[in-house]
Amino acid sequence: MLASILDGDDAAGAARPDEELTDVENNAADTPTDGRILVVGAGAMGAQIAMACALAGYRVRLHDIAEESLEKARANLTGVMERRVAKGRLSQAESDAAFARLESTTDLDGAAVDADVVIEAAVEKLEVKQDLFARLDTLCPSHTILASNSSSFVPSAIGARTERPDRVCNLHFFNPALVMKCVEVVRSPDTSDATMDAAVALVERLGKEAVVLNKEINGFVANRILGALRDEAVALLEGGYASVSDIDKACRTALGHPMGPFELQDMTGLDIGHAVKQGRYAESGDPADQPQRSLAERVEAGHLGRKTGQGWYRYDSEGNKLGEA
Ligand code: 3HC
Repeated sequence: MLASILDGDDAAGAARPDEELTDVENNAADTPTDGRILVVGAGAMGAQIAMACALAGYRVRLHDIAEESLEKARANLTGVMERRVAKGRLSQAESDAAFARLESTTDLDGAAVDADVVIEAAVEKLEVKQDLFARLDTLCPSHTILASNSSSFVPSAIGARTERPDRVCNLHFFNPALVMKCVEVVRSPDTSDATMDAAVALVERLGKEAVVLNKEINGFVANRILGALRDEAVALLEGGYASVSDIDKACRTALGHPMGPFELQDMTGLDIGHAVKQGRYAESGDPADQPQRSLAERVEAGHLGRKTGQGWYRYDSEGNKLGEA
């Protein structure tokens, strides 16, 4: 039943999305479904995940403990959607309908009571996620799937203190979540097939591509590969072999990457990459997994990338790159 609600084939008989359409902005924006999604955490990822769900027809609650974060999320989403409408990617009516399905709230208890799926996109700290999942476990209906957008922590760790490990998985989106097609769907040894089917159905309804991890591993697929690239980029920089901008240039012009590894870290946040490395080090104890000196220095100085105006590069108040930091 849950899989069919999430797939849009609900009891109310809502039309199924056009399966030929794959763009988020075109995906079922006018075919609402009974499925209700709660997104916890209104940072850059949570906000865009929530809007991707609203665009696909779900009723969505975006929760954050800070009203200010919710306001910022709404302002950012308004800008993104206005640009899409201006470019003709989305009609004004579709944008309005998506915003009408998207509610912001600081009240987690109230938001959880009728959620079919929770997508947690809170801070990348294991204790925070474990506490949150334990709380959601008591607040949500028994059928609710609890999914984490964690980029590193595995579902068995995050859901360790819930009574529903069969309904816990990771749904790992990529930044910017409204644009990037991939969502990694990660199962723990306890995750049921029904949960995986429902999670994959949800990803497909969002117009995205599900990459299924049948066995959990810290960092999953894409971030493990990206991590190896980043480590090598930082090692080349720290060894004095090439500059930040030339290493980025090599990745763009030799390898065809849309962004170089330093530009990408500035977009996703140096603190995220730092936390991922710390998490991996805590698990492996291998000194090679520790955050590198140049990364740790920037994070300690509060230079976290675009969001703080400086990371590997400096940015003006409009977000335009000024040069290497
Ligand atoms: N939010 C929403 N939409 C955005 C956006 C943002 N932050 N940035 C760009 N876009 C949209 C633009 O509006 C544009 O839309 P359009 O096609 O409808 O006109 C489209 O994306 C392309 O943008 P631009 O033309 O401005 O610029 P690019 O062609 O350079 O694309 C990019 C921007 C999509 C970010 C591209 O550079 C890219 O794919 N970069 C790599 C991103 C990546 O690797 N992401 C994964 C990061 S790792 C991760 O997320 C893991 C996690 O655990 C941290």
